[in-house]
Amino acid sequence: MDIAIIGAGNLGMAIANGLVKSESLAAKNITLSRRTVSLLNPMKEMGFVVEGDNRKAVETREVVIIAVEPQQIDIVLEELSPVLKPGHHILISVVTGVTAAQISSRIPDGVSVVRAMPNTAISIHESMTCIASESSNDKAIEVTKTIFNVVGKTLVIEEELMTAATALGACGIAFFLRAIRAASQGGIEIGFHSYEALEIAAQTARGAATLLLEMDNHPEFEIDRVTTPRGCTIAGLNRMEHEGFSSAMIKGITLSADIAAKLYRESE
Ligand SMILES: NC(=O)c1ccc[n+]([C@@H]2O[C@H](COP(=O)([O-])OP(=O)(O)OC[C@H]3O[C@@H](n4cnc5c(N)ncnc54)[C@H](OP(=O)(O)O)[C@@H]3O)[C@@H](O)[C@H]2O)c1
Repeated sequence: MDIAIIGAGNLGMAIANGLVKSESLAAKNITLSRRTVSLLNPMKEMGFVVEGDNRKAVETREVVIIAVEPQQIDIVLEELSPVLKPGHHILISVVTGVTAAQISSRIPDGVSVVRAMPNTAISIHESMTCIASESSNDKAIEVTKTIFNVVGKTLVIEEELMTAATALGACGIAFFLRAIRAASQGGIEIGFHSYEALEIAAQTARGAATLLLEMDNHPEFEIDRVTTPRGCTIAGLNRMEHEGFSSAMIKGITLSADIAAKLYRESE
Protein backbone atom coordinates (compact mmCIF):
# COMPACT_ATOMS: atom_id res chain seq x y z
CA MET A 1 0.00 0.00 0.00
CA ASP A 2 1.13 3.57 -0.63
CA ILE A 3 -0.44 6.68 0.76
CA ALA A 4 -0.60 10.42 0.13
CA ILE A 5 -1.55 12.58 3.08
CA ILE A 6 -2.91 15.94 1.92
CA GLY A 7 -2.67 18.37 4.83
CA ALA A 8 0.25 17.12 6.89
CA GLY A 9 -0.52 19.09 10.04
CA ASN A 10 -1.04 17.75 13.56
CA LEU A 11 -3.25 14.83 12.61
CA GLY A 12 -1.72 14.12 9.18
CA MET A 13 1.76 13.87 10.71
CA ALA A 14 0.48 11.79 13.62
CA ILE A 15 -1.00 9.31 11.12
CA ALA A 16 2.25 9.23 9.12
CA ASN A 17 4.42 8.76 12.20
CA GLY A 18 2.10 6.13 13.63
CA LEU A 19 2.15 4.04 10.44
CA VAL A 20 5.93 4.16 10.19
CA LYS A 21 6.52 3.48 13.90
CA SER A 22 4.26 0.44 13.66
CA GLU A 23 6.49 -0.77 10.79
CA SER A 24 3.43 -1.42 8.65
CA LEU A 25 4.60 1.07 6.04
CA ALA A 26 7.98 2.55 5.11
CA ALA A 27 8.33 6.33 5.13
CA LYS A 28 9.18 6.24 1.41
CA ASN A 29 5.69 4.88 0.72
CA ILE A 30 4.03 7.95 2.25
CA THR A 31 3.84 11.31 0.49
CA LEU A 32 3.09 14.33 2.67
CA SER A 33 1.81 17.64 1.38
CA ARG A 34 0.99 21.04 2.83
CA ARG A 35 1.21 24.60 1.49
CA THR A 36 4.09 25.62 3.76
CA VAL A 37 6.15 22.73 2.49
CA SER A 38 9.36 23.88 4.21
CA LEU A 39 7.78 22.87 7.53
CA LEU A 40 7.95 19.27 6.31
CA ASN A 41 11.76 19.28 6.02
CA PRO A 42 12.22 17.23 9.22
CA MET A 43 9.82 14.62 7.78
CA LYS A 44 11.81 14.61 4.52
CA GLU A 45 14.95 13.84 6.51
CA MET A 46 13.11 10.89 8.06
CA GLY A 47 12.52 9.46 4.55
CA PHE A 48 8.99 10.63 3.80
CA VAL A 49 8.28 11.95 0.30
CA VAL A 50 7.41 15.62 0.63
CA GLU A 51 5.40 17.48 -2.00
CA GLY A 52 4.06 21.02 -2.25
CA ASP A 53 1.83 20.16 -5.23
CA ASN A 54 -1.25 18.21 -4.10
CA ARG A 55 -1.87 16.75 -7.57
CA LYS A 56 1.64 15.36 -7.84
CA ALA A 57 1.30 13.97 -4.32
CA VAL A 58 -1.67 11.75 -5.24
CA GLU A 59 -0.77 10.79 -8.81
CA THR A 60 1.52 7.95 -7.81
CA ARG A 61 -0.36 6.85 -4.69
CA GLU A 62 -3.44 4.66 -4.34
CA VAL A 63 -4.77 5.78 -0.97
CA VAL A 64 -5.32 9.51 -0.39
CA ILE A 65 -5.91 10.74 3.14
CA ILE A 66 -7.35 14.26 3.31
CA ALA A 67 -6.45 15.92 6.63
CA VAL A 68 -7.00 19.64 6.02
CA GLU A 69 -9.26 21.96 8.00
CA PRO A 70 -12.95 21.86 6.98
CA GLN A 71 -12.65 25.32 5.37
CA GLN A 72 -9.92 24.03 3.01
CA ILE A 73 -11.49 20.83 1.74
CA ASP A 74 -13.42 22.33 -1.20
CA ILE A 75 -10.24 23.91 -2.61
CA VAL A 76 -8.32 20.65 -2.16
CA LEU A 77 -11.01 18.49 -3.79
CA GLU A 78 -11.29 20.87 -6.73
CA GLU A 79 -7.54 20.66 -7.17
CA LEU A 80 -7.40 16.86 -6.90
CA SER A 81 -10.50 16.02 -8.92
CA PRO A 82 -8.75 15.92 -12.36
CA VAL A 83 -6.14 13.40 -11.15
CA LEU A 84 -8.34 11.09 -9.07
CA LYS A 85 -8.90 7.86 -11.02
CA PRO A 86 -12.19 5.95 -10.60
CA GLY A 87 -11.62 2.36 -9.53
CA HIS A 88 -8.04 3.13 -8.48
CA HIS A 89 -7.95 5.82 -5.82
CA ILE A 90 -9.45 5.39 -2.36
CA LEU A 91 -10.06 8.72 -0.66
CA ILE A 92 -10.16 8.72 3.13
CA SER A 93 -11.27 11.97 4.75
CA VAL A 94 -10.56 12.73 8.41
CA VAL A 95 -12.02 16.21 7.99
CA THR A 96 -14.60 17.08 10.62
CA GLY A 97 -18.17 17.74 9.56
CA VAL A 98 -17.92 17.04 5.82
CA THR A 99 -20.09 14.13 4.67
CA ALA A 100 -19.06 11.44 2.21
CA ALA A 101 -21.83 12.62 -0.12
CA GLN A 102 -20.47 16.20 -0.05
CA ILE A 103 -17.01 14.85 -0.91
CA SER A 104 -18.27 12.47 -3.63
CA SER A 105 -20.18 15.30 -5.32
CA ARG A 106 -16.87 17.12 -5.89
CA ILE A 107 -14.79 14.29 -7.34
CA PRO A 108 -15.22 11.80 -10.21
CA ASP A 109 -17.81 9.01 -9.84
CA GLY A 110 -16.19 5.70 -8.95
CA VAL A 111 -13.58 7.10 -6.55
CA SER A 112 -14.27 5.37 -3.24
CA VAL A 113 -14.82 7.73 -0.31
CA VAL A 114 -14.51 6.70 3.33
CA ARG A 115 -14.60 8.93 6.40
CA ALA A 116 -12.39 8.21 9.38
CA MET A 117 -12.38 9.98 12.72
CA PRO A 118 -9.17 9.16 14.62
CA ASN A 119 -7.61 11.06 17.49
CA THR A 120 -4.10 12.30 18.19
CA ALA A 121 -3.21 9.20 20.22
CA ILE A 122 -2.67 7.73 16.77
CA SER A 123 1.00 8.73 17.03
CA ILE A 124 1.44 6.21 19.86
CA HIS A 125 -0.80 3.55 18.26
CA GLU A 126 -3.65 4.20 20.71
CA SER A 127 -6.19 5.97 18.52
CA MET A 128 -9.89 5.21 18.62
CA THR A 129 -10.89 5.59 15.00
CA CYS A 130 -14.53 5.51 13.87
CA ILE A 131 -15.01 4.70 10.19
CA ALA A 132 -18.03 5.28 7.93
CA SER A 133 -18.83 5.21 4.26
CA GLU A 134 -21.97 6.25 2.38
CA SER A 135 -21.90 3.06 0.32
CA SER A 136 -21.05 -0.46 1.38
CA ASN A 137 -17.71 -0.32 -0.40
CA ASP A 138 -16.11 -3.29 1.30
CA LYS A 139 -12.62 -2.92 -0.21
CA ALA A 140 -12.33 0.77 0.72
CA ILE A 141 -13.59 0.12 4.25
CA GLU A 142 -11.20 -2.82 4.66
CA VAL A 143 -8.25 -0.70 3.45
CA THR A 144 -9.24 2.06 5.90
CA LYS A 145 -9.55 -0.44 8.75
CA THR A 146 -6.15 -1.92 7.88
CA ILE A 147 -4.52 1.52 8.03
CA PHE A 148 -6.12 2.60 11.29
CA ASN A 149 -6.01 -0.78 13.04
CA VAL A 150 -2.23 -0.61 13.12
CA VAL A 151 -2.41 2.67 15.00
CA GLY A 152 -5.15 1.80 17.49
CA LYS A 153 -8.68 0.43 17.45
CA THR A 154 -11.34 0.92 14.79
CA LEU A 155 -15.11 0.80 14.82
CA VAL A 156 -17.28 0.93 11.69
CA ILE A 157 -20.34 3.10 12.37
CA GLU A 158 -23.28 4.61 10.49
CA GLU A 159 -22.24 7.87 8.88
CA GLU A 160 -24.91 9.84 10.74
CA LEU A 161 -22.95 9.11 13.93
CA MET A 162 -19.70 10.68 12.65
CA THR A 163 -20.37 13.98 14.43
CA ALA A 164 -20.97 12.09 17.66
CA ALA A 165 -17.73 10.16 17.04
CA THR A 166 -15.90 13.48 16.61
CA ALA A 167 -17.09 14.76 19.98
CA LEU A 168 -16.59 11.56 21.96
CA GLY A 169 -13.44 10.17 20.32
CA ALA A 170 -11.50 13.05 18.75
CA CYS A 171 -12.43 15.91 21.13
CA GLY A 172 -12.52 13.29 23.90
CA ILE A 173 -8.72 13.23 24.09
CA ALA A 174 -8.83 16.80 25.40
CA PHE A 175 -11.65 16.02 27.85
CA PHE A 176 -9.75 13.16 29.45
CA LEU A 177 -6.49 15.14 29.49
CA ARG A 178 -8.26 17.94 31.33
CA ALA A 179 -9.69 15.40 33.79
CA ILE A 180 -6.16 14.10 34.44
CA ARG A 181 -4.87 17.63 34.90
CA ALA A 182 -7.66 18.39 37.35
CA ALA A 183 -6.84 15.23 39.32
CA SER A 184 -3.16 16.17 39.45
CA GLN A 185 -4.05 19.65 40.72
CA GLY A 186 -6.02 18.01 43.51
CA GLY A 187 -2.95 15.86 44.19
CA ILE A 188 -0.74 18.93 44.54
CA GLU A 189 -3.16 20.48 47.02
CA ILE A 190 -2.96 17.39 49.23
CA GLY A 191 0.82 17.19 49.22
CA PHE A 192 2.49 15.97 46.03
CA HIS A 193 4.93 17.85 43.82
CA SER A 194 3.33 18.64 40.46
CA TYR A 195 5.42 16.05 38.55
CA GLU A 196 4.55 13.36 41.09
CA ALA A 197 0.87 14.28 41.05
CA LEU A 198 0.75 14.17 37.25
CA GLU A 199 2.48 10.80 37.09
CA ILE A 200 0.13 9.31 39.69
CA ALA A 201 -2.96 10.79 38.01
CA ALA A 202 -1.96 9.74 34.48
CA GLN A 203 -1.00 6.18 35.44
CA THR A 204 -4.19 5.85 37.50
CA ALA A 205 -6.24 7.00 34.50
CA ARG A 206 -4.42 4.49 32.30
CA GLY A 207 -5.14 1.75 34.85
CA ALA A 208 -8.85 2.68 35.00
CA ALA A 209 -9.16 2.62 31.19
CA THR A 210 -7.24 -0.65 30.93
CA LEU A 211 -9.48 -2.28 33.54
CA LEU A 212 -12.48 -1.52 31.32
CA LEU A 213 -10.84 -2.46 28.03
CA GLU A 214 -9.17 -5.67 29.19
CA MET A 215 -11.75 -6.96 31.67
CA ASP A 216 -14.71 -5.88 29.55
CA ASN A 217 -16.45 -4.66 32.71
CA HIS A 218 -18.86 -1.76 33.20
CA PRO A 219 -17.33 1.29 35.00
CA GLU A 220 -19.84 0.99 37.87
CA PHE A 221 -18.72 -2.60 38.50
CA GLU A 222 -15.12 -1.42 38.96
CA ILE A 223 -16.29 1.60 41.02
CA ASP A 224 -18.26 -0.70 43.35
CA ARG A 225 -15.03 -2.58 44.03
CA VAL A 226 -13.29 0.52 45.40
CA THR A 227 -16.15 2.18 47.29
CA THR A 228 -16.35 0.76 50.80
CA PRO A 229 -19.27 1.85 53.04
CA ARG A 230 -18.59 5.19 54.77
CA GLY A 231 -15.23 5.18 52.96
CA CYS A 232 -13.13 7.93 51.47
CA THR A 233 -13.70 6.96 47.79
CA ILE A 234 -17.48 7.16 47.90
CA ALA A 235 -17.27 10.44 49.82
CA GLY A 236 -15.01 11.98 47.18
CA LEU A 237 -17.02 10.53 44.30
CA ASN A 238 -20.36 11.74 45.63
CA ARG A 239 -18.95 15.22 46.25
CA MET A 240 -17.77 15.33 42.62
CA GLU A 241 -21.23 14.31 41.44
CA HIS A 242 -22.88 16.96 43.67
CA GLU A 243 -20.56 19.48 41.99
CA GLY A 244 -21.72 18.31 38.55
CA PHE A 245 -18.90 16.00 37.38
CA SER A 246 -20.92 13.65 35.11
CA SER A 247 -23.27 16.41 34.10
CA ALA A 248 -20.40 18.69 33.02
CA MET A 249 -18.85 15.91 30.90
CA ILE A 250 -22.17 15.07 29.22
CA LYS A 251 -23.01 18.74 28.54
CA GLY A 252 -19.51 19.34 27.13
CA ILE A 253 -19.76 16.35 24.80
CA THR A 254 -23.19 17.33 23.47
CA LEU A 255 -22.01 20.93 22.88
CA SER A 256 -18.91 19.67 21.02
CA ALA A 257 -21.12 17.48 18.83
CA ASP A 258 -23.40 20.44 18.04
CA ILE A 259 -20.43 22.60 17.04
CA ALA A 260 -18.71 19.81 15.07
CA ALA A 261 -21.87 19.52 12.96
CA LYS A 262 -21.60 23.20 12.01
CA LEU A 263 -17.86 23.43 11.23
CA TYR A 264 -18.26 23.03 7.49
CA ARG A 265 -20.39 25.26 5.28
CA GLU A 266 -20.73 24.20 1.67
CA SER A 267 -19.37 26.90 -0.60
CA GLU A 268 -22.30 26.66 -3.03
N1 LIG B 1 -6.42 17.12 15.67
C1 LIG B 1 -7.28 16.16 15.96
O1 LIG B 1 -7.29 15.59 17.05
C2 LIG B 1 -8.28 15.71 14.93
C3 LIG B 1 -8.98 14.51 15.16
C4 LIG B 1 -9.88 14.08 14.18
C5 LIG B 1 -10.10 14.84 13.04
N2 LIG B 1 -9.44 16.02 12.88
C6 LIG B 1 -9.67 16.79 11.65
O2 LIG B 1 -8.50 16.64 10.86
C7 LIG B 1 -8.27 17.82 10.10
C8 LIG B 1 -6.86 18.33 10.39
O3 LIG B 1 -6.75 18.66 11.76
P1 LIG B 1 -5.36 19.10 12.37
O4 LIG B 1 -5.57 19.23 13.83
O5 LIG B 1 -4.28 18.20 11.85
O6 LIG B 1 -5.20 20.55 11.71
P2 LIG B 1 -3.86 21.29 11.30
O7 LIG B 1 -2.76 20.95 12.23
O8 LIG B 1 -4.23 22.72 11.08
O9 LIG B 1 -3.47 20.63 9.90
C9 LIG B 1 -4.08 20.96 8.68
C10 LIG B 1 -2.99 21.01 7.66
O10 LIG B 1 -3.57 21.21 6.37
C11 LIG B 1 -2.63 21.97 5.63
N3 LIG B 1 -3.35 22.58 4.51
C12 LIG B 1 -4.24 23.58 4.55
N4 LIG B 1 -4.66 23.87 3.30
C13 LIG B 1 -4.03 23.02 2.48
C14 LIG B 1 -4.04 22.83 1.08
N5 LIG B 1 -4.80 23.58 0.27
N6 LIG B 1 -3.26 21.84 0.57
C15 LIG B 1 -2.50 21.07 1.36
N7 LIG B 1 -2.42 21.21 2.70
C16 LIG B 1 -3.19 22.18 3.23
C17 LIG B 1 -2.08 22.97 6.63
O11 LIG B 1 -0.76 23.38 6.33
P3 LIG B 1 -0.45 24.65 5.41
O12 LIG B 1 -1.19 25.81 6.02
O13 LIG B 1 1.03 24.75 5.43
O14 LIG B 1 -0.99 24.28 4.08
C18 LIG B 1 -2.01 22.14 7.91
O15 LIG B 1 -0.72 21.58 8.06
C19 LIG B 1 -9.35 18.82 10.51
O16 LIG B 1 -10.39 18.78 9.57
C20 LIG B 1 -9.82 18.29 11.85
O17 LIG B 1 -11.17 18.64 12.08
C21 LIG B 1 -8.51 16.45 13.79
